[in-house]
Amino acid sequence: MTNYSIMAFGTALRGSFPQEWIAQLRSRLDIVDVVSQTVALKKNGGRYWGLCPFHNEKTPSFSVRPDVQVYYCFGCKAGGDVISFVMETERLEFIEALKELAERVHMPLPDTTDMTELHRSRTERERILALNKRAAQWFHSRLWTSEGKPYLEYLYRRGLDDSGIRRFGLGAAGADGQSLMRALRDDDTPEDLIVKACLAAKREDRSFDFFRGRAMFPIMDAKGGVVAFGGRAMGDQQPKYLNSPDTPVFNKRRNVYGVHELRKAKNLRRIVLVEGYMDAVSLLNAGVVGVVATLGTSLTSEQVTLIHRYAPEALIAYDGDEAGQKAALRALDLFQAADMPARVVTFPDGMDPDDFIRREGLTGFDALVESHSARSAYQFRLARLAIQFDLSKPDERMRYAIEAAKILKTVREPVELDSLLDRLIVDTGYSKETLARQIGSTPMPARSRIAPEELAAPTRGIPSMVSRETDKAARTLLSLMGAGRIPVGTVDCDDFENPTHQVVCQGLAEGRSAAELIDDSSDDDVRTETLAIFGEPRDVSEEELPRTINDCIERLRMAKLNARINELLAAISTNAGSSGAEGKNELNELLTRRQRLRSGLSGHA
Ligand code: UTP
Ligand code: MN
Repeated sequence: MTNYSIMAFGTALRGSFPQEWIAQLRSRLDIVDVVSQTVALKKNGGRYWGLCPFHNEKTPSFSVRPDVQVYYCFGCKAGGDVISFVMETERLEFIEALKELAERVHMPLPDTTDMTELHRSRTERERILALNKRAAQWFHSRLWTSEGKPYLEYLYRRGLDDSGIRRFGLGAAGADGQSLMRALRDDDTPEDLIVKACLAAKREDRSFDFFRGRAMFPIMDAKGGVVAFGGRAMGDQQPKYLNSPDTPVFNKRRNVYGVHELRKAKNLRRIVLVEGYMDAVSLLNAGVVGVVATLGTSLTSEQVTLIHRYAPEALIAYDGDEAGQKAALRALDLFQAADMPARVVTFPDGMDPDDFIRREGLTGFDALVESHSARSAYQFRLARLAIQFDLSKPDERMRYAIEAAKILKTVREPVELDSLLDRLIVDTGYSKETLARQIGSTPMPARSRIAPEELAAPTRGIPSMVSRETDKAARTLLSLMGAGRIPVGTVDCDDFENPTHQVVCQGLAEGRSAAELIDDSSDDDVRTETLAIFGEPRDVSEEELPRTINDCIERLRMAKLNARINELLAAISTNAGSSGAEGKNELNELLTRRQRLRSGLSGHA
């Protein structure tokens, strides 16, 4: 009785309508009109407000900006342009939404001769997506052949039935190492494309299938496009899971397994985050909603940003063993840095989510989550800290209290702090006053200070305050550009450090609209960033405008300068002494320039 089928892969390939036609369609539509048909809107300031159609709410946090033709919800972070609004509210595919919107404004569909032409000139990205989809279908179909039998039986043994296998599009990669290649060659697929998609590897002029002898898990992006694969070995072969490396359509730090299903689930209360493909598949199959898994690396801040778009909270459901619990602590740090509330659920006896739900079922899972629902992230942090000390010894109790105070320093809600302190009094024997004073005198933990390596590489790790300010400046500039309030040419796209910002800047400079840019960002995190640029409020009055523009540009230049300075400092400190005078000269010059820029910035701050 399942509606899912393998055909769900990548129905959203969007190459078949000409860009100019889409741009023309957009220019004939007004997002305020279109949204008004489903949401009652009220004007306030430069935008319209209403109750969000994507989550339940009593006070409006859903906004529509006529100047950039974009909608954005501050509650659930849903956002997009007129086309995505129709896709989301009417659950249409891209092409279907275009057709419907075209009908509303009586615009004829593009003629089909153009479309075949367009088909041929599809981008490499689209060609790889199409190829991956083809491969996923092929792997899937192999399950029901004699070659695929052991894989099918393996999946059955792991508790899946045919409908589960179809739902996740699972498949089999045979052991001979040639069969996928052969099948794709029969379709006239150029070999270099197969290699580029990492479906084949090339060694000394011979190509062979990248995945051999594995049960296959296709990894899909939010739109259902197959972007990569994970392959599970049958026995004890290493590695246990082989994953596609990064390709033009896949970045494992920026995708999560299961995101495709999040899109269909509306009003999600929380995302359940697990470590393994099989954990995600098992939980989803048992009826848990909103489950995603990381892709063979530890959680990244990009992934946090991505999943925050779909739910207000996260439940970290990592393996119950020591490694899993340690990783959970690290994941909590990332959620905290991104301001996304998160809790940890711990499975007993070192089980992983898959083990647990197969033993205890959905009711057992729900009961465990419920029993953890009162445990805050801070309680988990304290518990993880406490196991490092022998609390029967006074000096260890003292050291525990000191370390715990560092953690509690970041608690924002006084009432939460109070209840955490009650617990700490019991565990350490110190009075509330003493503990409160300890917290007051403890320096902020290193986590919230800016580590030098983050300064040097602001895109890695927890975003530092500096890179957040810089991002804010960059977004403000781009938002103003998108609204036509900054003359083209005022801002040099090279001033932006973030590649997404550069792309958006370039796009605007070429005369493309904010809505187009959002719609074109096929990469999820590019889309998230583009939405943040055009969706979030940046209400700058006419008087403030020149100074704001100036400050933002200077901030970007400062960030660039800092990055270069840190690079030089790192170089100088690593080859201590031996580094050339050139580096030091440049450094001196940059430091002077920074000094000047700083006094300029503070001059009108
Ligand atoms: P686990 O080793 O916890 O596997 O790896 P699992 O999910 O319990 O898998 P089963 O139940 O034995 O099949 C968790 C995740 O880490 C990545 C994969 O994404 C896996 O799902 N991983 C693990 C790899 O990428 N390579 C490996 O060799 C092992
Ligand atoms: Mn497992």
